[in-house]
Amino acid sequence: MSKSKVMVAPSILSANYLSLGEDLKAVEGAGADLHHIDVMDGHFVPNLTFGPPLIKAIKKISSIPLDVHIMVSNPDDVAMSYVEAGADILVFHAEATKHGQRLAETIRAKGTRPGVALNPGTPLECAFAMAPHVDVIMLMSVNPGFGGQSFIEDTVSRVETLGKWLLEHRLGDRVLIEVDGGINDVNGARLVAAGARILVAGTYIYGARDRDKAIAALKRVK
Ligand code: DX5
Ligand code: ZN
Repeated sequence: MSKSKVMVAPSILSANYLSLGEDLKAVEGAGADLHHIDVMDGHFVPNLTFGPPLIKAIKKISSIPLDVHIMVSNPDDVAMSYVEAGADILVFHAEATKHGQRLAETIRAKGTRPGVALNPGTPLECAFAMAPHVDVIMLMSVNPGFGGQSFIEDTVSRVETLGKWLLEHRLGDRVLIEVDGGINDVNGARLVAAGARILVAGTYIYGARDRDKAIAALKRVK
């Protein structure tokens, strides 16, 4: 994964499910770096979405890596089925895992990049303990469960604090900061300036009249 430029991950949560294949190809053509796939279990979050079969199907047609975000209560039990389905990055929640460091290493041993996500209300210390074990730390900029929510401003300073901590601990080159929820070109620019390297965007990209333009705007942010 590139360290130098911002990577854009359109969230399929906001795609048109009845023409999903076409939507995926459209964002790939527009320069998307990853497909972000939100797995919700109706328990960790109050919404229910996709499971391994859909990820397997997407994997067959995708020309870019799959960034799978599992919002489930039992990641320790189910993570490997998402690895087997074809996740290239697998992000589980710090609030849900019982053995986060072990889970990250198990995911890595199978060739998938492990990532940990923190809800907006979760102290950054949870990320510090996981940082040596993961390739991605995802800071949620909304409380997870739904697309189209408003960006929580406080996330910018959390990204900055985390970025500094990673640099101080010589992990700045290895661990990428990903941000997810309510992202557009304006707050995206501030997040990247603060140290974010992967921007997830659902509504801003899939809801745009011109998706090419939306992705280009997110990739241009400095
Ligand atoms: C929220 C999901 C996000 C969501 C982002 O629970 O994890 O990935 O799809 O969608 P927007 O960009 O619309 O907030
Ligand atoms: Zn997500």
